[in-house]
Amino acid sequence: MQRILLGVNIDHVATLRQVRKTSYPEPLQAALLAEQAGADSITVHLREDRRHIQERDVTLLKEVMGIPLNLEMAVTDAMLAFAERLKPEYCCLVPEKREELTTEGGLDVSGRQAQVAHACQSLKAAGILVSLFVDPDAEQIAASREAGAAAVEIHTGRYADTGDDERGIELEKIIQAVRLAHDSGLRVNAGHGLNYRNVQTIAGIPELHELNIGHAIVARAVLCGMMQAVAEMKQLMNQARM
Ligand code: PXP
Repeated sequence: MQRILLGVNIDHVATLRQVRKTSYPEPLQAALLAEQAGADSITVHLREDRRHIQERDVTLLKEVMGIPLNLEMAVTDAMLAFAERLKPEYCCLVPEKREELTTEGGLDVSGRQAQVAHACQSLKAAGILVSLFVDPDAEQIAASREAGAAAVEIHTGRYADTGDDERGIELEKIIQAVRLAHDSGLRVNAGHGLNYRNVQTIAGIPELHELNIGHAIVARAVLCGMMQAVAEMKQLMNQARM
């Protein structure tokens, strides 16, 4: 079976910085470490409210990274203009609501067909590969193809969040959607809510090209680094008394 790729979403490294308005942790540093560890691409979502990633982060990542940058963004004129200037390798168009904790549900491509098709066309003309974040739904996949997207990212959030009773049903929807999208010639990615417990079921779907994973990786990184972080602080304190 072909290798599946990992796109690492580093939004929540920026969340930790923004919550205190410090200069650290630096998302670029996190991206370089992720690249060193084998990440195949780096994803950031430049939200309208700028709650985590800032324009400066995206610009720096594009300048410095050796692996592709995937810019998640809402379908707005301001974001289209930004992406066309920056020219990331990939853009993933997502719905965006100010009040939401994270992206809820896929983009309603069929309901916004003309607007999404225009966005796909403009980004494609700038040399960017466009992906649409959609629910595992046949209508949305057909509309994505119709809109001229090169790829879809299937929303795995419902599968990840649902209880044991419904998980099988949600998984089956994802499997069918991935197959349908793949057979219609789209590149198929997936993401949202994937973690160290549920990733293997999704990664085993053979038609999937790439998984985009953020929160679980950043959360794990905090714990993996805790012993070193505490030891370094103690060492500095002890040195001050020598
Ligand atoms: N894919 C898309 C389109 C997203 O909006 C997000 C969340 O920013 C992710 C993947 C990653 O989700 P998570 O942080 O739950 O891994």
